[in-house]
Amino acid sequence: MSDQHAQKQAAAKAALSYIEDDMILGVGTGSTVNCLIELLPQVKLAGAVASSQVTEDKLRALGIEIVDLNFAGQLDVYIDGADEVNAQLQLIKGGGGALTREKIVAAASKTFVCMVDASKSVETLGRAFPVPIEVLPQARSYVARELAQMGGEPVYREGFVTDYGNVILDTYDLDVTNPIALEKQLNNIVGVVCNGVFAANQADVLLKAGSSGVETLTR
Ligand code: 5RP
Repeated sequence: MSDQHAQKQAAAKAALSYIEDDMILGVGTGSTVNCLIELLPQVKLAGAVASSQVTEDKLRALGIEIVDLNFAGQLDVYIDGADEVNAQLQLIKGGGGALTREKIVAAASKTFVCMVDASKSVETLGRAFPVPIEVLPQARSYVARELAQMGGEPVYREGFVTDYGNVILDTYDLDVTNPIALEKQLNNIVGVVCNGVFAANQADVLLKAGSSGVETLTR
């Protein structure tokens, strides 16, 4: 499977085995998740907690009941994609701008199953893909200056507003060699709502699709 879309479809198909009858499933956001959503009519869900409005709309269109996370309790499984993943199953997420809701649903789930195609696997996070950082609109310039002091190069995602009404700073050149420390440091900047480093809430299972099939890695 050299084709990236075929790899996303293969990873999504492999993710089906983590879904049990009558469960409330946490569902992520993005093109890989869209491949999973296409397969969901094959399973019998009690409902789903969606990580974005876009995903919520797609699930509703299939007749899947949307459950408010506040009434769902701890979820057994959350399935999502990622923009980058390292060997420790730590991630960069937020390319689609849904990072905050994604991190909340991941944190509220027992098992985070992450599906990626081969292009997402990296040795060190953040070298190629910027870290998306969700920021309160009023704090945008202040947070950008703080990020620049850390050596980052923040780029305002023009014309994009998150589901929570905030903005995104896609930040290049941050040192992500210690993802756990960086995630905390970014969270400590006043005005930051959430950042796209998923180290405290890393994946538990990685389904990595490549030219010779889907590899399953666990932590
Ligand atoms: C959205 C995300 C996505 O999981 C990430 O961008 C990967 O997307 P895709 O499956 O389209 O490659 O974090 O906020």
